[in-house]
Amino acid sequence: MKIFADTENLDDLKEFKAWGILDGCTTNPLILAKAGITDMKGHMIKILKLVQGPTSIEVTTNDLKAMLAEAKEISGWNRKDQNIVVKLPLNPDGLKASTLLNREGVKTNMTACMNCNQAILGAKTGATYVSIFMGRIEDMGVDGAQVIRETRELLDLHKLNSKIIAGSLRSVGDYTRAEKAGAHVLTVPSAILRKIPLHPRTESTINEFITEYAKVKGKCKT
Ligand code: E4P
Repeated sequence: MKIFADTENLDDLKEFKAWGILDGCTTNPLILAKAGITDMKGHMIKILKLVQGPTSIEVTTNDLKAMLAEAKEISGWNRKDQNIVVKLPLNPDGLKASTLLNREGVKTNMTACMNCNQAILGAKTGATYVSIFMGRIEDMGVDGAQVIRETRELLDLHKLNSKIIAGSLRSVGDYTRAEKAGAHVLTVPSAILRKIPLHPRTESTINEFITEYAKVKGKCKT
């Protein structure tokens, strides 16, 4: 299982990279808009250099022609490192765009999948990733983990090569359920990823060890 960070934040990406657990990154126009990033190209090139792993960059249009033009531009930003993945909407024009781009060797990520049927269509276009939006699925009263589980079963059954990215994770609980449901990749918002290594019992145990050893060490010196 791989861990991507669902963020544009360079400090967070540096931190997760230093942990040694960061396999890639996902962004989308909303994430960039919230951070006030207007120079998408300049910022994404910084992320690509830092992450050195698959990095999803989303188109900002729903129009097929414009999508293809944006995708071609994006995929040329750092051709050498092969880590650019163009994110496309899972809708009819997104499917067309993914099919054409995959024929040209551009990696794609079919985004905003809300059920297994959409994800399987995305996979059939040759997409490298299909993104299942757990939190948004659960907003509609549907079990997002079950959608991931069913999609994984179908991908395996039909020997389709796309990998599932579990996105729209809103809690550590979502992270665990997506992991157990068979997502190949979890893309995790920074605030959630920072919580994963922390446990109060780990902290108290380590503090106990350090405190007790310091007492003994103190006695040795006197
Ligand atoms: C995944 O690739 C998306 O960037 C992200 O997880 C979207 O989720 P949200 O907008 O529901 O947070």
